[in-house]
Formats: sequence, structure tokens, C-alpha cells
Amino acid sequence: MAEIHYTDDVLILAIESSCDETAVAIIHRDESGEPKILASEISSQIDIHRKWGGVVPELASRNHSLALSPLIQQALENAEVGIQDIDAFAATSGPGLASSLLVGNTAAKALSVATGKPYIAVNHMEGHLISPFLQDQGELPANIALIVSGGHTLLIHMKSFGDYELLGTTLDDAAGEAFDKVAKMIGLPYPGGPEIEKAAKSGNPAAFALPRSMMKEPNFNFSFSGLKTAVLYTISDLNPDDGAVKPEQVADLCASFQAAVIEVLVKKTIKAARKSGVNKISLSGGVSCNRTLQQELQKACDNARIELHLCQPALSTDNAAMIAFVALHKYLAGEFSSLDQGIDPNQKLV
Ligand code: KG4
Ligand code: ZN
Repeated sequence: MAEIHYTDDVLILAIESSCDETAVAIIHRDESGEPKILASEISSQIDIHRKWGGVVPELASRNHSLALSPLIQQALENAEVGIQDIDAFAATSGPGLASSLLVGNTAAKALSVATGKPYIAVNHMEGHLISPFLQDQGELPANIALIVSGGHTLLIHMKSFGDYELLGTTLDDAAGEAFDKVAKMIGLPYPGGPEIEKAAKSGNPAAFALPRSMMKEPNFNFSFSGLKTAVLYTISDLNPDDGAVKPEQVADLCASFQAAVIEVLVKKTIKAARKSGVNKISLSGGVSCNRTLQQELQKACDNARIELHLCQPALSTDNAAMIAFVALHKYLAGEFSSLDQGIDPNQKLV
């Protein structure tokens, strides 16, 4: 590997391929210290997986392989830079689907070897974690971070970049997973989160009394499987003959389920901030697209005089800009990865 020069002017190309989005981004940091995303390309596979009701790993990796090279070309063109201008190549190394992670990782390592530039492995959850601060300059502020995605629900005390304390996590389903599974029960397509949000708009959130799990427990963990089962029982009570949800029941079921998830997420996050004495909260991950969650958390933060940091909508669901942002922090800290470092489908953040 060539000698590494620490310059203030840095260009990094990052690849994200942990699940069903193939994404490539190029980030630039100039002497002023401002990080700027020059390109952020995404090729979504949602339409491919929708007909199977969820992500099919073999289809995902096959489509990552097909999409990746053209996407890298596109990112270079949009950023108006050449491959030889890139100072480091980054890729998500976990958590995620093994065969999907391998596609992005192998490409980043190959580009690193071919150009003699360093390779940087990035934890996907760290990308979500710091994504609300992508437009900000300077040090990341201490905050209580709620990350709600399809695979994870994490409450983290972020003290600075790389210094994270896990306050709580889900004991069973992730918040996004609960949205996806409940949507399936109701007969809505994958991914369920946006479908439930849309249907909930015309529903009554108090129509069905659904449980708010673990609210009284003296910890910051979550559980959504009891809520999922309660929705299932509500559906069979409403439809004893065939168990099939009727069109006129959809909106109230969605609104009641969504309200139950949001109440637990908001109350626990505020409690964690109060207990830690931190006056900033950040919200990230795919479920953070949910406007009702954003509004309820904003209201609770205003009441508690806490500053809320939200992601730009394009950075909430999976993307490579957030991976490039983590890689930039690592680059500046001199944290490079060995080419021997493999992917880790169960990689932990803390
Ligand atoms: O972060 P993400 O794109 O991928 C993972 O890393 O998992 O999150 C995807 C999850 C899915 O479960 C999806 O249903 C959920 O985010 N989601 C939403 C909304 N948009 C996406 N959940 C609730 N409301 C939404 N508007
Ligand atoms: Zn994600």
C-alpha cells in the first residue's frame, strides 16, 4: 500500500450494499473543514423484493453486482472527479446480509488495491447514528441518539465520534420490523412503514387499545413483539369468520399501531436524555422518515427544552452519504482498515 498523506483536502468514495439498496457516494472536505456530498447515488431494489413480501438475499446480492459498477461511474461523473482523485475507498462491512455486504466490500477493497489508496470499513449503524449531523461543520455534539431501522432499535448516548454508550435496545423485533410485519398482517405491501404511515393519516389512533410495552421498566430497552401479537388478536376479534382485514378497518388499525410504537419511542428517548443530562436528541434510521414520529418527538423535545436533530429525508433510509461521512471522520482520525478485515453480518456498534 502506498504511503498515506494526511491532507486537509480529502475525497472519499463510499459504497453501501448491506440490504436492498445499492448506493455510492463521494464526500469532499476542503481546507475550510466543511464536509460536502458531491454525489449520492442510489439504486433501489424495493420493486424487485416487493413481490416476495421482503428482502430475498440471493436476489439482493445479484442485483448489487449488476448495479454497482454503473453507480460508481455515475457518482464519479456527478462529482466531476476521476478515480485517481479519490483519497480512500470505504464500504459498509456490517451489519447486514453477508452476500450483499461482500459485493460492496470486495469492490472497495479492489479499488483500494488498484489505486494504492487506503480502505475504510464502516459500521452501517454508525452511518445512521451520525447522519443527522451531515450538514454541520465541526465536532459532532454530544446527544442521545434514537436509531430506528428495519433491523435495529438503539438508544445511544453519543459523547463524541467513536465514543458511544448503549443505553437500550429492542429485546425482540426492531421498530421497522414491527411496521413491516404488522403491515403484512393487514395486507399492505413491503416495506410496511410508509404504507402504515399513509393509511394511518385517515385513522383514529385511539380506535384500539394496544399495549405500550416496557414503559414502566427501569431501563431503556424496547419490546415490540407483544404489540404485534395484540394487533393479530385485534384482527381476529374483528373478523372472527375469515380473519381477513376489511378495507374499512385498515386506517384505524394502522393509526392505533403507529401511535403505540411512537409513544414508547418518544417517552423512553426523552427519559434517557433527562437521566443523562444531555440537551440534544437525534433521530435516524428508516423509521425516522415517519412524520408523526418526527412531530411527536419534536413536541416532547420542545416541552423538555431539548434540541432535536433530524436527518434530511434522503439520509433517513439507507444511503452511502452517511457511510462516506463516517469514513471521513475515520480518515481524519487516521483509522484505516486492513484488507484482511472481513465483513461481519452481526457487527455491533457498541
Ligand atoms: O434504515 P433502513 O432504510 O434500512 C435498515 O437499515 O433497516 O430502514 C428500513 C425500515 C423498514 O422497516 C421500513 O418499513 C421503515 O424503515 N420505514 C418506515 C417509514 N419509512 C421507512 N417506518 C415507518 N414510517 C415510515 N414512513
Ligand atoms: Zn439502515
